[in-house]
Amino acid sequence: MAAGFTFAHLDVINDRYNPKGTVAPESARFPARGAQFDFCCLFSIFTHFYKEDIQHYLYEIRRVLKPGGLVVATWFLYDDERLPKAIGSPVYPMAHRLDEVTIYKEPSDPLRAIAFDENHVRTIVKNAGLEVVRIDRGKWAGEEAVEFQDFVILRRPEDRVRVQLRSLAGRAKRALMRRAPSGRCSAARPRPAHHGRGR
Ligand SMILES: C[S@@+](CC[C@H](N)C(=O)[O-])C[C@H]1O[C@@H](n2cnc3c(N)ncnc32)[C@H](O)[C@@H]1O
Repeated sequence: MAAGFTFAHLDVINDRYNPKGTVAPESARFPARGAQFDFCCLFSIFTHFYKEDIQHYLYEIRRVLKPGGLVVATWFLYDDERLPKAIGSPVYPMAHRLDEVTIYKEPSDPLRAIAFDENHVRTIVKNAGLEVVRIDRGKWAGEEAVEFQDFVILRRPEDRVRVQLRSLAGRAKRALMRRAPSGRCSAARPRPAHHGRGR
């Protein structure tokens, strides 16, 4: 394992991967304090989750990310236009419907491969206090693409107070620079005190 990394294992229930787990996904708490990480990645994880559990994980992710921190997560996403392609996918034909925003491949094993309405994903991302930076569609529904699953980049927005303070500091600095004769910031470099006359 690379230096600086440690693994923390959580025994979370997943119908497909860990049916005998002991922790319900909706009450899982990441063993980490808040605002600790710059980056979070979930490759082929939300493609095996129910929507309520994704919502809860997004809250947890937002909690442990630093403001400005990024998430890369893969999903299977559809919208009205893509739905026929998702249903007819050559690899994961999402021919079964669980609810109004969820379709899946295997009747006996919904978490084998599960897809969500993109608008719903955007909503739960927003609910969690995160923002969508970009979505790059993959080729799972038969379209041309580099990756197989859909890649979604999210961000925890900067705190508003922090942004305001930074912009205030920038404005104060610019004002001081304008006032300083040689372009130097006089307030930042205090002059030595005068000692007597004739200097
Ligand atoms: C298809 S595998 C992907 C594994 C790996 N990320 C990769 O890209 O090869 C799906 C993974 O989701 C993990 N998983 C299932 N439920 C989970 C949960 N509630 N929290 C975290 N991981 C979970 C499973 O342990 C499994 O390793």
